[in-house]
Amino acid sequence: MTINWFPGHMHKARKDIAEVMPQVDVIIEVLDARIPFSSENPLVPQLRGNTPCIKLLNKADLADPEITALWVAKMEAEQGIKALPVSQKQPGVMQHLLPMCNALLPQRDHNKMPVRAMIMGIPNVGKSTIINNLAGRTIAKTGNEAGITKSQQKIKLENGIILTDTPGFLWPKLTPPTCGFRLAITGAIKDTVFDYIDIAMFAADYLAKAYPEQLKKWFKLDSLPETDLEILEAIGVSRRCLRKGGGVELQKVSTLLITELRAGLLGRIGFETPEMTTREEAEAKLAEAKRAEEKAISDRLRKLRTKKNRR
Ligand code: G4P
Repeated sequence: MTINWFPGHMHKARKDIAEVMPQVDVIIEVLDARIPFSSENPLVPQLRGNTPCIKLLNKADLADPEITALWVAKMEAEQGIKALPVSQKQPGVMQHLLPMCNALLPQRDHNKMPVRAMIMGIPNVGKSTIINNLAGRTIAKTGNEAGITKSQQKIKLENGIILTDTPGFLWPKLTPPTCGFRLAITGAIKDTVFDYIDIAMFAADYLAKAYPEQLKKWFKLDSLPETDLEILEAIGVSRRCLRKGGGVELQKVSTLLITELRAGLLGRIGFETPEMTTREEAEAKLAEAKRAEEKAISDRLRKLRTKKNRR
């Protein structure tokens, strides 16, 4: 899958974040509760230093609550990190934010010094919806397009927090490679830059392993075939996505699966668990080390050949 990662914008956003970081008391990182690892900004651990961080696991209404609880436990095991599952459906949960900020900044006299928070999140994660909820009015434009929040803005909230909003560009979480698929499934990556059939096959394979009953129930399938392609075909037959001359219209069935999955119609789904992403990260590191080793060997061979030719 090829994805345009907006390298120019990323460079600028990195610079903006690094500049504003010394004036920030707490980072509020908005994540997608269905993919808390893939939707993370890889710059946060690099640029955070000792600044405390609150991870808001948004769209928790769409995520599997058991898996969300595993993520909260994993995140909170790290020094200076608090995690809170939130959703547009339960705006009241956001009231826990200020006490959480205060708890992360115990030395501070909160009556004298307002908390300065920086909010960040990849596009479509629901950051604008959260800001509007916190502010009690419409502040940032909400929408689906990558990078709709263009420049930093400061918002004073009634509860005392001064919120700095940063541009919402997508970050290159390219390793492990499964991250790209999950970002596409949940709608974080623009639909024009990936192939629906690829993404639907990945989703079908995962759902058949992790949520077979939900998959069967929603698409009215008696049993699940072995391969991802066969699963898509079975869904196509069940939903009558058929070509005139016979056979299933794969593009149509793929779009249908992704759209209904994103809307939560198959039920609450977690697309990654802490155990899965830890394993995938280790595998990606191993693959990277193997590639580096192979490159070193081929470089050495090339040098030897050049030497030999010179003689
Ligand atoms: P962004 O600033 O991070 O880009 O995201 P934004 O707030 O614009 O939200 C992106 C989409 O996600 C919106 O839907 C929004 O309604 C939806 N969303 C935000 N928070 C939640 C949540 O907690 N649960 C669920 N299920 N959805 C959420 P949209 O399709 O762009 O359109 P619309 O719903 O605004 O019509």
